[in-house]
Amino acid sequence: MVHAVRLWTLLSATFSCALATEVMLGRTKIIGLDSPQFKQEFFGGIPFASPPVGDLRFRPPIAKFTLDGPSLSATNFSASCVQAGLPFSEISENCLTLNVFRPAGVSSKSELPVMVFIYGGGFVAGQSSIMNGTGLVSRSIARGTPIVFVSLNYRLGPLGFPLGDEAARNGLLNLGLHDQLVALKWVHANIHAFGGDPKKVAVSDREFPFAPVLDGPGGLIPDYPTKRVARGAGGKLPFLSGTVLDEGTSFTPQTLVGVTQAEAFGISLFSPSPAGTSALQTAVQNTLAQYSDDPADGCPYFTGNDTFGLDPEYKRTAAFVTDIGFLSLRRWFGRAAAARGALVHSYMFTDPQPENPPQIGITHASELPYVFGGTPAGNPGAPQLSEQMMDYWISFATSLDPNDGKGSERPKWEPYTPSKEFNHANLTMIADEFHISQTEFNDKNHFRLAIIALCVVPRW
Ligand SMILES: *[C@@H]1O[C@H](CO)[C@@H](O)[C@H](O)[C@H]1NC(C)=O
Ligand SMILES: *[C@@H]1O[C@H](CO)[C@@H](O)[C@H](O)[C@H]1NC(C)=O
Ligand SMILES: *[C@@H]1O[C@H](CO)[C@@H](O)[C@H](O)[C@H]1NC(C)=O
Ligand SMILES: *[C@@H]1O[C@H](CO)[C@@H](O)[C@H](O)[C@H]1NC(C)=O
Repeated sequence: MVHAVRLWTLLSATFSCALATEVMLGRTKIIGLDSPQFKQEFFGGIPFASPPVGDLRFRPPIAKFTLDGPSLSATNFSASCVQAGLPFSEISENCLTLNVFRPAGVSSKSELPVMVFIYGGGFVAGQSSIMNGTGLVSRSIARGTPIVFVSLNYRLGPLGFPLGDEAARNGLLNLGLHDQLVALKWVHANIHAFGGDPKKVAVSDREFPFAPVLDGPGGLIPDYPTKRVARGAGGKLPFLSGTVLDEGTSFTPQTLVGVTQAEAFGISLFSPSPAGTSALQTAVQNTLAQYSDDPADGCPYFTGNDTFGLDPEYKRTAAFVTDIGFLSLRRWFGRAAAARGALVHSYMFTDPQPENPPQIGITHASELPYVFGGTPAGNPGAPQLSEQMMDYWISFATSLDPNDGKGSERPKWEPYTPSKEFNHANLTMIADEFHISQTEFNDKNHFRLAIIALCVVPRW
């Protein structure tokens, strides 16, 4: 995974005039879309597996790294995988495709680093089509470290994550994760043809907070990831990892009233628990008891005694969700990896989000648009911060270090230690101690809550 950083030969205009927006994959010509205004090319909706339809529904993906016909029109995204909340015209079971954004004029000799984006969405939602890599690729060209950007679809909900004894017996849990792995294998097999270097692939996986299902010995998730990481899984793989200040507000019902409803909501998040109903209830009660009911201590943080017209339990519960679903895990995995010598860069994102309702604050995924070059209106500092964040990310993807000194002026993002993480609003190093007593409590209790956490460390 650690490679010498190559000196990139800058792409010269002489390359670009000769090449059409086409890539040969085996015998198939993939016809993409030229974006001359961005000096880029786009290839969308490329299948990486047999369509998981008919007899292949509820089956592991069947890798398919070449295509059948003489040509494939790849000028737009394919349909998204089946999920609630999208019009029927935008979803399909036949969704196992990926998209490639690349600088114009590259060839199979270019061997550019590759950034792969895997959407989050709790394994029930997500679309590769809403993450447009054009801004990132533009930034990578402008700073002299061009990359190829790949995004992919994977099956969701009951089609991607079938539950129950029958699925477990037949080894059919976590199909969506198998889809992701097949897509990554496609990248290894084929990205060379698109100008990428299969030996330099950085994966951005947004699927941090929600639990896959343990599928037991021999499966993709053979044990709790926290246990496996404690035993050394993941090795010294370098990674960037972060959370935002008010992660939990998007997941906490604003209609929630009183302690009983707060507990019922906490229980619903982790049901059914293998530990049993009453153990789960006790664990949720004990965890909620770590949180003060003074609204000034609640989430969104630093909003004083304002309850935004909601029941005060909203802010307490959102604090609980922030820690149990995000902060505890980011901290736990960061510390475990850093303790065994992995190079970890950790962040807490706190840039104000004036477009969000005040009770939502700096909520889950607020930092994501910045990484893709989009920023909220009404925050004059955001465009500059976005450019700096893109530079950190691209620098990491191209050199495994966010501080390559290229692109925007920006402070050094120092490697993570418990006393040092990055505040991603003013780019200073701060101690990683916000809510430390709550996350330490959670560390001791997450097995009791039967949270199958969360950082997926598959073996392959
Ligand atoms: C491309 O696909 C998106 C949805 O993924 C759709 O909204 C858009 O209309 C399509 N564009 C064209 C030109 O077909
Ligand atoms: C990505 O965004 C750019 C800039 O808004 C747009 O021109 C381009 O069509 C988008 N690409 C795709 C594939 O939707
Ligand atoms: C919020 O209210 C509590 C109790 O009424 C009080 O102790 C505290 O100082 C108040 N906090 C702020 C920030 O106003
Ligand atoms: C940066 O932000 C942190 C956390 O909000 C704060 O403690 C620190 O004083 C700020 N540093 C500067 C230089 O503004």
